[in-house]
Amino acid sequence: MIIVKKVGEESIPAIQELAEMTWAIAYAAILPPQQMAYMLDLFYSTTALQKQMQGGDRFILATDNNEPVGFASYSPKECHTELVEVLSKVYRLHKIYIDPNQQGKGIGRALVADLEERVRECGGLTITLGTDDVSDQTSLSGINLYPHIWEHLANIKNLKRHPYEFYQKQGYVIVGLMPDANGPGKPDILMAKSVVR
Ligand SMILES: CC(C)(COP(=O)(O)OP(=O)(O)OC[C@H]1O[C@@H](n2cnc3c(N)ncnc32)[C@H](O)[C@@H]1OP(=O)(O)O)[C@@H](O)C(=O)NCCC(=O)NCCS
Repeated sequence: MIIVKKVGEESIPAIQELAEMTWAIAYAAILPPQQMAYMLDLFYSTTALQKQMQGGDRFILATDNNEPVGFASYSPKECHTELVEVLSKVYRLHKIYIDPNQQGKGIGRALVADLEERVRECGGLTITLGTDDVSDQTSLSGINLYPHIWEHLANIKNLKRHPYEFYQKQGYVIVGLMPDANGPGKPDILMAKSVVR
């Protein structure tokens, strides 16, 4: 049975293991081993994760029969002071990764639903996220999107199971696009969902 719970520093080893498993598959085609190790260390070293948690990022972990199978992290979009955190209406989903052997079983959906409930309870109205296309997964990749950004967005096609469609299935809509966010022809697709409407 899938259980989702809020976790802290005690779950850092589980988060690191899941990140390594998913990155090895999700980013193998675009990150050479050395760069993969560098990026994983940058975002998932124990110190980096402690810093994220202490800085206000919340982590939730999905387990199946006590085995970690996925995690997500989120925070108020602006999190510089406690006051802003209290007043924040917009939250950002930073990370969501499911064990490659467990994908397609509703675990991502369960994590997103849990996170939305938590945001609602905190008084948040909106969740936003950016989902990069760095490996030609959509029709927005590999081309100059200027100046007809909205035309490209209106005609977006999912060529290789880009996760924007996973988010659409959870009710998120595309609200923008950052061309070249990760290098020429590698955009970031911006999405959002109201958790109260
Ligand atoms: C994307 C990801 C989080 C989805 O989690 P998951 O547990 O595999 O997804 P679920 O089983 O909950 O799927 C829910 C729905 O989304 C669909 N879906 C899931 N991944 C999808 C994808 N990549 N493209 C299109 N649809 C997808 C499922 O088919 C399912 O549809 P249904 O409701 O019609 O049955 C997971 O596959 C993953 O970790 N991928 C690698 C890392 C990644 O891309 N993270 C996101 C970074 S922005």
